[in-house]
Amino acid sequence: MVKPQTCEIAVPNPLDAPPIRSPQAVHTYVVKRIKGKEIVEIGTRNGDGMSCFTLHAKKATAIEMANSYCKSLESRSATISAAHPGRGFKVTCSDYRQGGVVDADIITWWEQAPLTNVPALQHLLREQKAGRLRAGASAIILFDPKWGPDMWAWNRLCPLATWSARIPFDERPRCMQKNGGKSPQGSETCNRAFGVFILAGVPVDHVPMLDDKSLDSKACIARHEQGWVAATGHWQEYDVPFQGDRSVDGAARPDAPSIGAGAAGLLGAAMGAVALIVGLAAAITQRRRRSALPFA
Ligand SMILES: C[S@@+](CC[C@H](N)C(=O)[O-])C[C@H]1O[C@@H](n2cnc3c(N)ncnc32)[C@H](O)[C@@H]1O
Repeated sequence: MVKPQTCEIAVPNPLDAPPIRSPQAVHTYVVKRIKGKEIVEIGTRNGDGMSCFTLHAKKATAIEMANSYCKSLESRSATISAAHPGRGFKVTCSDYRQGGVVDADIITWWEQAPLTNVPALQHLLREQKAGRLRAGASAIILFDPKWGPDMWAWNRLCPLATWSARIPFDERPRCMQKNGGKSPQGSETCNRAFGVFILAGVPVDHVPMLDDKSLDSKACIARHEQGWVAATGHWQEYDVPFQGDRSVDGAARPDAPSIGAGAAGLLGAAMGAVALIVGLAAAITQRRRRSALPFA
């Protein structure tokens, strides 16, 4: 099957428009990060993003707590399965805080209460500790700079992120056509249907860093913004550099999970033993050489 290259092509007639859903350009970027992986989207609404993700993910699950959206999602998944066999997505019609529903390589969302960023991350960490979310799982979190609570969260979460991206979009015509300038929620106007979105990747095992008061969010944001400026292309990305096992923001390397400490200990002990044996062998050789030398 040839997969459509962008979500605008794959989903040409989305059901919703920004600002009540995330932009299609953002969905296209998410695809780049989830290809071949298992993904859960929390808060899928009518599924405009999920309809694209599911074409590229190894397995895709929509978690939605509103029953009316769940029905729409089930019929949408069936339509996709008919057109692309095996590519439908699973619908879990529940609150994401129900235990055991978020297991995936990548969990993504755009917050809307009662789905909010910090509690969602803390829930993922609890699920991981309880063995219901796999080790190595990461969150992809969406932020709208025109929405205050999103920016508050981006500032708080920046030191936990291993990458970020700044994605321009413009869906004003669609917003005007669908909503006549106002979303059904009333407070959200088409002024938020263009601009940029910020996306960040946060490994779930970085969540304990939320308690570390020494982390400098301002410096972190400045580094990401400088990183975006230096990048070229339709979107700008910044991958947080690592020095040894630590990022410049103080985070542990994500692919060095907690068992890494044990493995590193074993490796260290093994290397120590090798060094001892080599040292002893060298000393013995030296002694022999010396004893072979005249007057040694
Ligand atoms: C901002 S919208 C996301 C829109 C969607 N991702 C899209 O692009 O169309 C947030 C969604 O989260 C859902 N939601 C809010 N709290 C939730 C929770 N605790 N569990 C599951 N879904 C939740 C809402 O019903 C809503 O559909």
